[in-house]
Amino acid sequence: MISLKTGSELKVMREACRIAAGALQTAGKAVRPGISTAEIDKIAEEYILSQGGEPNFKNYSGYPATACISINNEVIHGIPSTKRILREGDIVSIDLGAKYGGYHGDNAATFACGKISDEAKWLIDTTRESLYKGISAAVSGGRIGDIASAVQEYVEARGYSVVRKFVGHGIGTSLHEAPEVPNFGTKGRGPRLLPGMTLAIEPMINQGSSDVKVLPDGWTVLTVDGSLSAHFEHTVAITADGPKIMTYA
Ligand code: MF3
Ligand code: CO
Repeated sequence: MISLKTGSELKVMREACRIAAGALQTAGKAVRPGISTAEIDKIAEEYILSQGGEPNFKNYSGYPATACISINNEVIHGIPSTKRILREGDIVSIDLGAKYGGYHGDNAATFACGKISDEAKWLIDTTRESLYKGISAAVSGGRIGDIASAVQEYVEARGYSVVRKFVGHGIGTSLHEAPEVPNFGTKGRGPRLLPGMTLAIEPMINQGSSDVKVLPDGWTVLTVDGSLSAHFEHTVAITADGPKIMTYA
């Protein structure tokens, strides 16, 4: 079942999203050569707690940290570690969320560590822009497939591929709710978009093939061909006045 949130629910949820966005911004500013992903995770966690929120990934299905931090060919769900030290030229995807007042916020972005290649920059720019294409298609009366196809068309026209094994999701009193929000599909298909729906739209885009595999740690998702991958995510509310991004600081 797809839950529709009232205006007052959206106000509380916006607080969760504000905290998640502030944490992502703060974590992103910490990205630099020499820092460990565990240190970035700690910065994110301290920010969320300082704002009265709770890190909502921690203990989710046994996940051990506040943030997922995925480097270069890692797509999503990289586990922060004191042993993972960022290097100049890395691209670093940080995905994190916060819970506040019973509601969840979820967002992600890919950051450059120092100076990165033009190829890496193009991938990041395309992935960020594909998220905004998806958000623009998230209008009341449309369908989930409108979002999916907007992302897919933008990405594939630029020679990149959309990860299919993982998708975006509804979000609210649970981190993951119905409906699924794929980044590939057909305009006009899928569940109807209605005011009060809140969706985490999150394109995961690979430089090479869309194939991914999971490491033996049970979490880290990698590109099979070793190519770079980027990830951007916002929590978005569908309203009568169009899509509203909830995850901004
Ligand atoms: N960030 C994922 C999402 O966007 C959820 C992470 S799974 C967790 O849906 F276990 F790390 F929480
Ligand atoms: Co998400």
